[in-house]
Amino acid sequence: MAAVVAVQSVTKRFPGIAAVDGVSLDIEDGQFVTLLGPSGCGKTTLLRLIAGFERPDEGRVLFGEADVTDVAPHERDVHTVFQQYALFPHLSVADNVAFGLRRGRVRRSRDEIARLVREALELVRLTGFEDRMPAQLSGGQQQRVAIARAVAPGPRILLLDEPLGALDRKLREAMQLELKQLQRRLGISFVFVTHDQDEALAMSDVVVVMKDGRIEQMGTPSEIYEHPRTRFIAEFVGVTNVIEGSVESIDGSTASVRTPAGLVPLSARANGGPALATGDRVTVAVRPEKIRFADLDGAGVIAGRVEDARYLGDVTHWRVRLVDGSAWTVFAQNDGTPEALAPGTEVGLVWDTGHGVRLEP
Ligand SMILES: Nc1ncnc2c1ncn2[C@@H]1O[C@H](COP(=O)(O)OP(=O)(O)OP(=O)(O)O)[C@@H](O)[C@H]1O
Ligand SMILES: [Mg+2]
Repeated sequence: MAAVVAVQSVTKRFPGIAAVDGVSLDIEDGQFVTLLGPSGCGKTTLLRLIAGFERPDEGRVLFGEADVTDVAPHERDVHTVFQQYALFPHLSVADNVAFGLRRGRVRRSRDEIARLVREALELVRLTGFEDRMPAQLSGGQQQRVAIARAVAPGPRILLLDEPLGALDRKLREAMQLELKQLQRRLGISFVFVTHDQDEALAMSDVVVVMKDGRIEQMGTPSEIYEHPRTRFIAEFVGVTNVIEGSVESIDGSTASVRTPAGLVPLSARANGGPALATGDRVTVAVRPEKIRFADLDGAGVIAGRVEDARYLGDVTHWRVRLVDGSAWTVFAQNDGTPEALAPGTEVGLVWDTGHGVRLEP
């Protein structure tokens, strides 16, 4: 079956910059896809290309089998929710939701519009708010109206550009859950833009990490988190520790990597890349929660010195300085036997072989 949206080798240039640079992306039916990346990496531009507010300089955009590259936004089966909710302040909640239905490409009867408004408000749990004006709503409620307005016409694709950006953290987390549930109930595809990596991991079927107008990596949240391809991804999504070294020996499927801080194990086929050979230079990344404190003389243990600890109740974040000068972070669960390590204490760090990730150079 054809993808709901297929972005094919699309480039969009603005004076002095390729905001989107040769991007290809398939969005499947019913998928929650998140575009994640730092400010200016091209997320909004890519969304606007899908919506039809921008026309690509190169490449095509398909909706199913249909090439929509030259089709106007309101002729596309897609709706967009922006960070600024852009509700009409002089229209009631019901009229805001009905607005798009009255002017959509489909002609609808008054009864049908009333029904669609009722259903959309029910979906976002705003039944009873029909006659309120936007100014009489909280930020989260206003955002729900904007979402109701976007889903009321029953689009196959909903585009959301940082829709939760203006909300405080608690409300934001509640809305994340609501949006995810709404997407499941509707069974349509969502393309969601954020620069918040936790939000991306928590909500998505597929995370698309962008950098400088290109897709750096895409995959499920756990693929992106557990198997980042590059240092940029490893450091942008979550916290990571990185060390460089060279392969000293290979024993079966495990390589021993000589680093300034000691010998560390690495799967000889780590990260799906080509098999390692003795002498290869490698960059190894390890997530903080995968690391345990260990005796210094054990196998695969590297040495460091405790610098400080951030006690956060459920976990403690340790900062450990390695001999090569790099600062590593170790997350330790407070499971009843919290470690008490004074600054300056020499510690060993160890992790399972499979948890070392080989990054591309
Ligand atoms: N209309 C425009 N004219 C000129 N340059 C633009 C225009 N729109 C975007 N750009 C540039 O294109 C690049 C990508 O912008 P875009 O808005 O897509 O980034 P973004 O990833 O959404 O960033 P943010 O997280 O800050 O919203 C930026 O360098 C931006 O300055
Ligand atoms: Mg943007």
